[in-house]
Amino acid sequence: MNTETATVEELNFQQERLFAQLSGRSDQSIARFCGELPRVPRSAYPEVLLGMGHLYEAFDLMFAVIAVSVQATHDVSPYEARYVTMQNVLQPFASEYGIEPGRPLQSTHRELYADFYTSATGKPWPSQYPEKTESKWLACGRRWTQAMIDRLQQAWPDPNDRAKYNLGYHWAVEALSVGEFDHLTAAWRSLGFDAPYMNAHCEVEEEHAGCAIGAVIAFSSVDDPLVVQGARDHESDLAGFYDECTSLILNGSFG
Ligand SMILES: [Fe+2]
Ligand SMILES: [Fe+2]
Repeated sequence: MNTETATVEELNFQQERLFAQLSGRSDQSIARFCGELPRVPRSAYPEVLLGMGHLYEAFDLMFAVIAVSVQATHDVSPYEARYVTMQNVLQPFASEYGIEPGRPLQSTHRELYADFYTSATGKPWPSQYPEKTESKWLACGRRWTQAMIDRLQQAWPDPNDRAKYNLGYHWAVEALSVGEFDHLTAAWRSLGFDAPYMNAHCEVEEEHAGCAIGAVIAFSSVDDPLVVQGARDHESDLAGFYDECTSLILNGSFG
């Protein structure tokens, strides 16, 4: 396990090696979804943005689960590797709540998403997700939230294995969100919405991806099959979510 402080060049090099293990499938799915987004009627924006927002909030839950998986190796992983890894996992997690090292406290990403929702729909973000609803969009958000959490919480005989898989998944969450937000920002902008929610992510996602690859190499390596499996599984889950959203658009599943 490498616990030395890595340079930016080293992080980039390791990140490219892990990217080479991915297929590019989620990027294609996101691009396809963005291409179909103009077909969503404006009257359906509340439903669509609520369902998608459910999954977007689930990333906060995923970060919490991932952090637990690393700290749960307390008795079986090296002391220094563990705290360096935690530092790299907690930084992007804290960013979700507007806590950025060396910067004043920002808006939380949930606050920014709620503002985006209001600017797109003219309605306030609901204080709670409805327990029961006919909406296929919220069902889709809930299904993929559960699928991603289930991946991270699956049982492994060794806590170190679970942490390695979680760190691969975590890296893909951060690394793939760079392109995701580029696509989404361009798509929403073309529809007349220039959302601070998207821009905030565009500013920090590369930094987060650097933290995430730093966590991988502090705890394990990009050659570890469990890290690679975690990264591939997130790419597949992310593609699955956007593919389902695209199908909902193409099927006219609104209201
Ligand atoms: Fe975020
Ligand atoms: Fe991030």
